[in-house]
Amino acid sequence: MDPEIGPLDLTAHVDEALAVQAVAFGLGPEEVAVRRQIVQRHMQYQGARAYGATAGGRLVGFVYGMPNSRTHWWSTVVEPYLRANGNDSWLDDSFVITELHVHPDHQNRGLGRKLITTITDTADEPRSILSAIDIDSPARGLYRSLGYTDLARQVHFPSAPRPYAVMGAPLPLRRR
Ligand SMILES: CC(C)(COP(=O)(O)OP(=O)(O)OC[C@H]1O[C@@H](n2cnc3c(N)ncnc32)[C@H](O)[C@@H]1OP(=O)(O)O)[C@@H](O)C(=O)NCCC(=O)NCCS
Repeated sequence: MDPEIGPLDLTAHVDEALAVQAVAFGLGPEEVAVRRQIVQRHMQYQGARAYGATAGGRLVGFVYGMPNSRTHWWSTVVEPYLRANGNDSWLDDSFVITELHVHPDHQNRGLGRKLITTITDTADEPRSILSAIDIDSPARGLYRSLGYTDLARQVHFPSAPRPYAVMGAPLPLRRR
């Protein structure tokens, strides 16, 4: 049966979501415990929302995001990098994609694309921003095909071992 995509109560389903993220992105138990607190806090932010992909009653993918605020921790980290490139106005009137993960057993079937276009279609903002590990990856390929371009590269988050790229796209996202 094809997975179904719909709104997800991420606060209630945080453990299932993090189990997907753990295998998709590679998180150990300690990182999962930290992410659990972060996700619960994020879901209290104004306009935060999530969508999930469910197959046979199991969550197999999810996305969440929110209207960006320059006061959020993520924004404060990326702001100097964007400013250095003249791109920091992207932090205003923008919907930020905080996480997008699809279980490896269900990747490459269009779920990631469907999840991110579904959530951004609900946004009132004219554009979207996100960060992704600064390598050639399926995630970077997907984001580019949706119209995201690089706003800053080699962005270092405290405690993250690898640098990130910050990307932005006009909304609605490009359709094929
Ligand atoms: C990124 C991710 C969510 C994509 O989910 P998905 O359901 O597999 O994606 P889709 O099937 O909708 O789209 C696949 C797209 O990814 C891109 N892609 C897939 N494999 C790729 C590869 N090896 N190289 C480059 N691009 C690739 C293509 O643009 C492809 O689009 P297509 O429809 O033209 O083939 C999924 O790969 C994932 O969970 N990865 C691990 C976690 C992660 O990196 N999350 C993002 C954090 S920023």
